[in-house]
Amino acid sequence: MIQSAGDPAQSGSYPPTLAVRGEILHFTGDPLTDGADATHHHEDGLLVIRNGRVVAAGDASKLLSGLDPQTKIVDHRGKFIMPGFVDTHIHYSQTDIIASYGQQLLDWLDRFTFPAERKFEDPAHAAEVSEYFLDELLKNGTTTAAVFTTVHPVATDAFFAAAEKRNLRMAAGKVLMDRNCPDFLRDTAESGYEQSAELVRRWHGRGRLSYAVTPRFAPTSTERQLELAGRLLDEHPGVLLQSHVAENAGEVEWVAELFPWARSYLDVYDRYGMLRKGAVFAHCIHLDDADRRRMAETGAAMSFCATSNLFLGSGLFDLHQAREQGVTVGIGTDVGGGTAFSLLRTLNESYKVTQLRGHSLPPLQGFYLVTLGGARAMGLDAHIGSFEPGKEADFVVLDPSSSPLRARRNRLASGFEERLFLLMMLGDDRAVHSTYVMGECAYESPRATYSL
Ligand code: GUN
Ligand code: ZN
Repeated sequence: MIQSAGDPAQSGSYPPTLAVRGEILHFTGDPLTDGADATHHHEDGLLVIRNGRVVAAGDASKLLSGLDPQTKIVDHRGKFIMPGFVDTHIHYSQTDIIASYGQQLLDWLDRFTFPAERKFEDPAHAAEVSEYFLDELLKNGTTTAAVFTTVHPVATDAFFAAAEKRNLRMAAGKVLMDRNCPDFLRDTAESGYEQSAELVRRWHGRGRLSYAVTPRFAPTSTERQLELAGRLLDEHPGVLLQSHVAENAGEVEWVAELFPWARSYLDVYDRYGMLRKGAVFAHCIHLDDADRRRMAETGAAMSFCATSNLFLGSGLFDLHQAREQGVTVGIGTDVGGGTAFSLLRTLNESYKVTQLRGHSLPPLQGFYLVTLGGARAMGLDAHIGSFEPGKEADFVVLDPSSSPLRARRNRLASGFEERLFLLMMLGDDRAVHSTYVMGECAYESPRATYSL
């Protein structure tokens, strides 16, 4: 068992033993590179949980007989049980500007994003949006996310407090932004550094929370601010980093003007020591082979944000090339540039992006990317992302028959992988039957299962 001092699973506040029966799918490796052994599929499976952690996952026929007689068994046969989804890039402060019409990145930031983020100077607003946002994540089966707050420390406190109350494994950070932004959102290199360090001390490692140093993107930070962001990472081992890179053609040109010494956009972050394990860069569309090589050798991860990249007209992420070159990749919704909280809907659009790139996205790889792949991208795979014994029991129960059409189409599927593909192409929040956090039900859908 993976346990440590001060661990929430030690507090004894969880149901004694729970067993959940259904079609189990999880990964202990990457199905692309680690072969069939990395995929664990149990058509009639049982997930056994004690003190909020996984005890075993396997065939019901083998595990049922060994259960303690006190065990509560929840029957979800006909549904999939998977590790909770991991969203590797999202902005809670952009919840209320999702689907804002008609602009590309830089104009969209000025017109919609910065005014929306200004409201988070008010702690009451930040607290209200935090609760709504976390409800929405759970409703979509997402149990862990890498979250941008805003430049305001109070907005970061509000988010962490809301996540802590629900015992969620979340990473978040105050945005660093000391130039090329409105005055009302600007910090300074020094104030951003001090405030981030204070937030790290207050929140990092508390319960299931991690701090992520969060320079918004190279154009809105001076070189001094980027240098201090790198210093924060060195001074606080285990803290994550999140930023944006190479999303939009105009943005890439702007970075070339602002940092004439850099070989590429990514090279700016490299100069300040930000490429490392536990660093997640959203978008990564306009990169070259040398950039991808650098990400692979440093362990920095990419967040593929398909709905956002299509909505903002940013471009087509090259998943095939990233995976070929050995880069760690997760999937991000990037709400509010992205148009869905649902990682199922995001997989749907990810598949279409790969098709436009001349490849495809097999369902096993898709579900790997939103579970263990995302956990690896965030450096959290010792805790979450699979059903290995000792891991935290965050999981989602998915209903493949959550609409009449889905039920009809699912009935015609010829095997497990086709049923999974249907879930990835037709699924959304309606497909989420329930979401569990550390073995406790945190969301249950009011909808019925359709049987035709
Ligand atoms: N680049 C810098 N800031 C942002 C943001 O808020 N959203 C997206 N999609 N890209 C960014
Ligand atoms: Zn973003």
